Amino acid sequence: MSDPSSNQKISVGLGERAYDIHVGAGLLARAAELLKPLLSESKSRGPVPVVTDAHVADIHLPPLLDLLGKAGIDARPIVMAPGEVTKSFAGLERLSGALLDMRIDRNGLVIALGGGVMGDLTGFAAGVLKRGVAFAQIPTTLLSQVDSSVGGKTAINARQGKNLIGLFHQPRIVIADTTLLATLPRRELLSGYAEVAKYGALGDANFFEWLEVNGAKALAGDEAAMIKAVAHSCQMKADIVARDERETGDRALLNLGHTFGHALEAATGFSDRLVHGEGVAIGMALAFRLSVKLGLCPGQDAERFTRHLKAVGLPAAIPDIAGPRPDADELIGHMAHDKKVTDGKLTFILLNGLGQAFVTRDVPLAAVKSVLTES
Ligand code: GLY
Repeated sequence: MSDPSSNQKISVGLGERAYDIHVGAGLLARAAELLKPLLSESKSRGPVPVVTDAHVADIHLPPLLDLLGKAGIDARPIVMAPGEVTKSFAGLERLSGALLDMRIDRNGLVIALGGGVMGDLTGFAAGVLKRGVAFAQIPTTLLSQVDSSVGGKTAINARQGKNLIGLFHQPRIVIADTTLLATLPRRELLSGYAEVAKYGALGDANFFEWLEVNGAKALAGDEAAMIKAVAHSCQMKADIVARDERETGDRALLNLGHTFGHALEAATGFSDRLVHGEGVAIGMALAFRLSVKLGLCPGQDAERFTRHLKAVGLPAAIPDIAGPRPDADELIGHMAHDKKVTDGKLTFILLNGLGQAFVTRDVPLAAVKSVLTES
């Protein structure tokens, strides 16, 4: 276990819904100590459900249940099927049924242990169960540690698209143990790293410069570098969420690369050809290219960003996707169905340079099409 002094605590300043994000190595071993104040505050006497998926359960559930049990917490597992398919009405029905069968009370606390799917589904179930019970996030993937576990966006998917049924329901605590990342497959780790690079690109050129030097080290297992990468990303997200919780303005900056990325994921059938973070990586590179084309961003900033993605092993252009090239018109069609469309106009996050993203709804479609054709 690493030196606890390198662990970090970040506060999400949301008034009565404020909470802390704990980032550090070996934090799972401190879960009981971190959760206990919330349990005694809530005065709930019911069991504490730990919702996870079968893959995560194999690795991280036994030690967590053991240490919560030793601390006198009546933790009870609910193990869901892994994968996006569980973020569905059927998954919600199963989970809320299991929570009700457990007789979780209105003052209870539900723990989400896993990646984005578990966090989004559990947060949503907790948000609607008995009109809202508290939940805690213990994210186990890099993507969920730096993005989905923070900020209170919860959802399930609908037939019409991803994340279309959901609500804002902030967790009471986030416990991001960077040691858990050691068990992730390389591709999954890299996919999460795309979201880390996003923070540098959207608002902090110094952090991006730090990532150019230290990002590969973090990915190779340097604990201190990974803690800094996760903590800095969470701090940036916490700051944005605190000033725009419900995405009426600045929070949309967190969608850098996502309009392009979601279209690419849809065009490749949300399959193994392109996982979410890879779509975001290519999407961000396309956002830079579009910004250069529109005369907003220096070409060298776009090249520098793309160079870093490639250096760590992420895809950075459409031809990097295996299989047939997605058609530009089909991609634009997918963008038009994205929930980031308002009044029939596409919302894009563009850049005036590295670390200088902004939201715009004023992008000529012809420029979008030529970037999708040329890149
Ligand atoms: N993942 C983007 C957001 O939380 O707003």
